Amino acid sequence: MTTLAQFRETWRRDRVFDFMLPTPEFERPVDTRHGPILYVEDVSVSFDGFKALNNLNLYIDDGELRCIIGPNGAGKTTMMDVITGKTRPDTGSVYFGQRIDLLKLSEHQIARGGIGRKFQKPTIFEALSVYENLELATAADKRVWYTLTRQLNGEQRDRINEVLIQIGLVDKRHSNAGELSHGQKQWLEIGMLLMQNPRVLLVDEPVAGMTGEEVEHTANLLTSLAGKHSVIVVEHDMAFVRSIARKVTVLHQGSVLAEGTMDQVQNDPRVIEVYLGE
Ligand SMILES: Nc1ncnc2c1ncn2[C@@H]1O[C@H](COP(=O)(O)OP(=O)(O)OP(=O)(O)O)[C@@H](O)[C@H]1O
Ligand SMILES: [Mg+2]
Repeated sequence: MTTLAQFRETWRRDRVFDFMLPTPEFERPVDTRHGPILYVEDVSVSFDGFKALNNLNLYIDDGELRCIIGPNGAGKTTMMDVITGKTRPDTGSVYFGQRIDLLKLSEHQIARGGIGRKFQKPTIFEALSVYENLELATAADKRVWYTLTRQLNGEQRDRINEVLIQIGLVDKRHSNAGELSHGQKQWLEIGMLLMQNPRVLLVDEPVAGMTGEEVEHTANLLTSLAGKHSVIVVEHDMAFVRSIARKVTVLHQGSVLAEGTMDQVQNDPRVIEVYLGE
């Protein structure tokens, strides 16, 4: 006989519209009693025999800001794909807190469950205002209710205003998102992720194509998010990484080559040889 729990499990795994279903895993808080909010253990991913990740071990503490650097092809983006459920590893385990097995959840459930990812090409709605974009991001959870009423409660409005301040777009709240500069669009997308109150935020090459001033603003923004959120930043711009770095992880050929402060990894002969030497 199928139990209710088994039935739910099957639904969660197999249904395209799984976002319409409850995810019991997330009804209880993420268990970070031992420190880490993310446990990536012995993860390997092969593409046609090529190991993009090779026994990768990575632990991210709750509230930490972690920078991940490493040469092209080191596996940085693949690592994010694994955490967010886009790519399934061949071996290994990935846990969100101590209890939640991310390998059992769909990409959508992971996103909704508190792991937000910022893609390089922002997925903002250009024809809507900055405010409306944030409004839409609020509504994602309560889609049906919102569509029926088109009304936000006071708490939601407060949250939008708070996020507008955080991302530095208060003055642009009524501008069309399409009119924003490249950097401002990136911050709006970060703001849309923040509307979902993610516990973990993954950002891949956030400052590519930004002006110096925009890079600085992005550094302040990401730094300000740490503590409340755990933030994982992948970036090649070393000046930027240096400006925000606490703990830095260097990936190389799908594994961790070195980990430590920026000074420690920059002076590590193995890191200099494979990445920072040029
Ligand atoms: N879907 C895929 N199919 C085949 N090979 C892939 C796929 N995704 C990634 N790879 C390969 O896996 C390796 C790791 O790629 P990944 O994108 O994770 O590197 P990266 O560290 O993000 O590099 P970059 O700094 O250039 O963004 C590369 O050799 C890449 O070509
Ligand atoms: Mg990449």
